[in-house]
Amino acid sequence: MLLHLSTWQEIEDVLKTSQTVVIPIGSNEQHGPTGLLGTDWLCPEIIAHHAEKSADILVAPTFNIGMAQHHLGFPGTIALRPSTFMAAIADWALSLAAHGFTRLYFLNGHGGNVATIEAAFSELYAEASFARQPRGFACRLKNWWDLRGVMPLAQRQFPTGHGSHATPSEIAITQWAYPDHIKAANYAPQIAPTGPIREARDFRARYPDGRMGSDPGQATPEKGGELVKMAAEALLEDVKAFAAEVAP
Ligand code: NI
Repeated sequence: MLLHLSTWQEIEDVLKTSQTVVIPIGSNEQHGPTGLLGTDWLCPEIIAHHAEKSADILVAPTFNIGMAQHHLGFPGTIALRPSTFMAAIADWALSLAAHGFTRLYFLNGHGGNVATIEAAFSELYAEASFARQPRGFACRLKNWWDLRGVMPLAQRQFPTGHGSHATPSEIAITQWAYPDHIKAANYAPQIAPTGPIREARDFRARYPDGRMGSDPGQATPEKGGELVKMAAEALLEDVKAFAAEVAP
């Protein structure tokens, strides 16, 4: 069930039997010469929506802007600074919790979001801790590539040139879901350099075409489909386990 295609009465009914919601979360940022700007929010959305077709889970609208300050040297990138991102995550979480959701599962598609999302969770828990009150809801962060079986599959598909940004695995997933938007380019070098991540100007100087350590030319829609199926299955298992957690 997709929250944005439901009515408030339908969500009220869902809450009578389930208090778990999945929130795809990502970033809108450059992904090299062939990666779509939406890659990091499209991947968790594609996986969550695929999982939703075969199981009774509720998926919230995708939180599609994240912590991408280092990509601002490339047109099309839209970024929230960490403090803004944390405030927005808190309000999303508190809105859902106010309706009675007690298990907020964030399926993430951008490595650069992790520290800020975890810090946002800590702020939410801290409010309750200082007030000596129970929080009343729990948050879980899972990167789609950390779902069971996904990284081993990606390593089999792309034994070299997977890299860490504009990876063939994430680009393959978008190719599978949006075959009309597959792009081609000549990569030079074929496998991009790696190194640190700092401010936008430094990032663009180190990684002129936007890639980090990757060769996205290996991506195919077929490989993307395999990754989506594996990830969607593992997502359902992980959400089920989270929903079944018993409060102490
Ligand atoms: Ni990405």
